[in-house]
Amino acid sequence: MVILKSPEEIEKIRKSNRIVAEILAELKAHAKPGVTTGDLDRLSESLTHRRGARPAFKGYRGYPYSLCASVNQEVVHGMPSDGRVLKDGDLVSLDFGVDYQGYFGDAAITVAIGQVSREARRLMDVTEAGLYEGIREARAGNRLGDISAAVQACVEAAGCSVVRDYVGHGIGRELHEDPQIPNYGVKGRGVALKAGMVLAIEPMVNLGTYRVQVLEDGWTVVTADGKLSAHFEHSVAITDRGPEILSLLR
Ligand code: MF3
Ligand code: CO
Repeated sequence: MVILKSPEEIEKIRKSNRIVAEILAELKAHAKPGVTTGDLDRLSESLTHRRGARPAFKGYRGYPYSLCASVNQEVVHGMPSDGRVLKDGDLVSLDFGVDYQGYFGDAAITVAIGQVSREARRLMDVTEAGLYEGIREARAGNRLGDISAAVQACVEAAGCSVVRDYVGHGIGRELHEDPQIPNYGVKGRGVALKAGMVLAIEPMVNLGTYRVQVLEDGWTVVTADGKLSAHFEHSVAITDRGPEILSLLR
């Protein structure tokens, strides 16, 4: 069941997502060669507490960190570590969420460390473009499959592949609400989209196969072929005036 939000609730989700967007921007500015993903995790947590919010991921199903930091062939749920030193040419996906006054925000960006390869840059650009193609379809009167199909078409036209095993989600009083939002699907199918829905759309895109594996740590998801992966996510409200991206700095 998809929970519809009132304008007052959307304002609260907007506030949470603004915090997420501000913190992701600070993390991006700090993500340089020599910095560890452990450093970024601690920074995310202190910035969150400074704003009177709570890190949404810490403790979620036992996840032990505030930030997910997935480097290169890591797709999602990369666990920050003081031993993981970022180096020139790395791609790091930073996925972050907060709970502020009972409402959640969630977003992700992929950041280039120093100078990355042309292929890596192309992967990042395609993933972000796929996210925006999906967001464009997030309007009342459309169906969920319109979002999914738009993401998939954009990504596959560029010769990249869409991860199947992890999906986007509704967001509000919970980090993960219905509906699940696959990044592949069929136009015209699925849940009817309505004003008041808030959706976290989050394509994970691979340069090679879409197949993934979970490491022994029980969290880190990596590409099956070891090739690069990227991830972008926004929380988006469906309004009478179309999609509003809540996790943007403005
Ligand atoms: N950002 C992820 C999502 O959008 C949540 C990470 S799950 C956690 O679904 F357990 F690591 F928090
Ligand atoms: Co999410």
